[in-house]
Amino acid sequence: MVSKRNICYIVSGIIFILLALFMIGLILAQTVFKPKHPILQTVSSTVEGVSTNVSPPDQVQVNFTLTLEMLLTNPNVADVEYKTVENLVYYRDTLVGNLSLPSSTLPAKGSVMLACPLVLQIDKFVANLGDIAQDILHGKIVMETKARMPGEITLLGIFKTHMDSISHCNLVLGFPTMKVLEQVCDLKTKL
Ligand SMILES: *[C@@H]1O[C@H](CO)[C@@H](O)[C@H](O)[C@H]1NC(C)=O
Ligand SMILES: *[C@@H]1O[C@H](CO)[C@@H](O)[C@H](O)[C@H]1NC(C)=O
Repeated sequence: MVSKRNICYIVSGIIFILLALFMIGLILAQTVFKPKHPILQTVSSTVEGVSTNVSPPDQVQVNFTLTLEMLLTNPNVADVEYKTVENLVYYRDTLVGNLSLPSSTLPAKGSVMLACPLVLQIDKFVANLGDIAQDILHGKIVMETKARMPGEITLLGIFKTHMDSISHCNLVLGFPTMKVLEQVCDLKTKL
């Protein structure tokens, strides 16, 4: 026969074990399994295929391909599924190029380097050609790039967390060399 006292011990034992499991689960959820920001970085930018026709102020054409090397890093112990990597390029606040990469999966603790070649024809989008002529005379073309990676982390196959990584850069290109003189990027991530 199990005495009343023993039942009491068994019940407290079970409660203690459940409580301990709950605490361990809570600690794991807050540490190892806590969703961390995937990192989107613009590592380098290169310019190729430059074709210009410049005789200011009425004839200003600048065509080139700006290739952004993006490094995607997943610090999570779970895979990250991203919907796209969207790259937008601005010149004087006007969108002059965009490129969206197809969706894919970043393996747990993995990283991947992706090249985003953006074909740009600056004069097509900029209303005031005098602005381009001005920049060209000063030997510098300043551009802005914005990259976004919206996606989802699935932990233990059930818990989904949305995330959105952003990389924003300012580029200074020399003219007529069209070399990248300066690249300043910051890093923002939202969960
Ligand atoms: C720039 O590209 C456009 C469209 O492809 C083309 O019509 C134009 O002639 C090019 N300009 C130069 C200077 O190559
Ligand atoms: C990207 O460019 C395509 C055309 O090439 C356009 O339809 C689309 O709206 C652009 N996306 C953004 C965010 O501006």
